[in-house]
Amino acid sequence: SRPHIPVICVDGPTASGKGTLASEVARRLGYHYLDSGALYRITGLAATRAGLVLDEAHEHSIAKLAGSLDIVFSTAGRVLLSGQDVTDAIRTEEAGMNASRVSALPAVRTALVALQQGFRRLPGLVADGRDMGTVIFPDAQLKVYLTASAAQRAERRHKQLISKGISATLAALRADLEARDHRDSSRAVAPLKPAEDALLLDNSGQTVEESVAQVLRWWEEKQPFS
Ligand code: DC
Repeated sequence: SRPHIPVICVDGPTASGKGTLASEVARRLGYHYLDSGALYRITGLAATRAGLVLDEAHEHSIAKLAGSLDIVFSTAGRVLLSGQDVTDAIRTEEAGMNASRVSALPAVRTALVALQQGFRRLPGLVADGRDMGTVIFPDAQLKVYLTASAAQRAERRHKQLISKGISATLAALRADLEARDHRDSSRAVAPLKPAEDALLLDNSGQTVEESVAQVLRWWEEKQPFS
């Protein structure tokens, strides 16, 4: 890895607001941003399109796919898979569930390690996911573990979907979140859990700006010469 290049990890469960927080912190610091969940979402999509079954039966084929994905994160915020815009296709609830399935396969996780570590470039990186601080960047200078109650997270996801004109019930969303949390935390490889040296941030009662400010304060406190 590249220990001299700064990395801030933001890990936490589904819909905790990791993406919003991490991408805003990256923007404020002028750092690169890695949405590692997108890589699992893209892998799930590519595997589904290839007609593969998303479990151990096709683990090695899915891992092979994951290791050879042609992905571009455009500066305009679009995600391209082999030149095709999959930004919306990877954001559905089904795509999230499929991502969670492929992410439980050890060979798939291994296939994505080098790709993720390659995002660590100057002047620095903010990476969000489940295992950024525990597995991918264990030497990161700052690790944040973000939490929010399941009720809060379901509420946020509900608002997001409504604003996109997609209907969904709160109860169904919450059940879906809890199922995904359970799968992500109970899998054998790289389960969702805080790194030992992670700082916990419960953003349940916070605005985005308040959580961003908190992370930036922690980051400043880590700077030896400031
Ligand atoms: O953060 P997200 O909802 O986009 O992630 C989708 C799924 O991918 C999530 O259910 C678990 C998996 N994932 C993972 O296992 N490790 C990561 N670093 C990021 C996501």
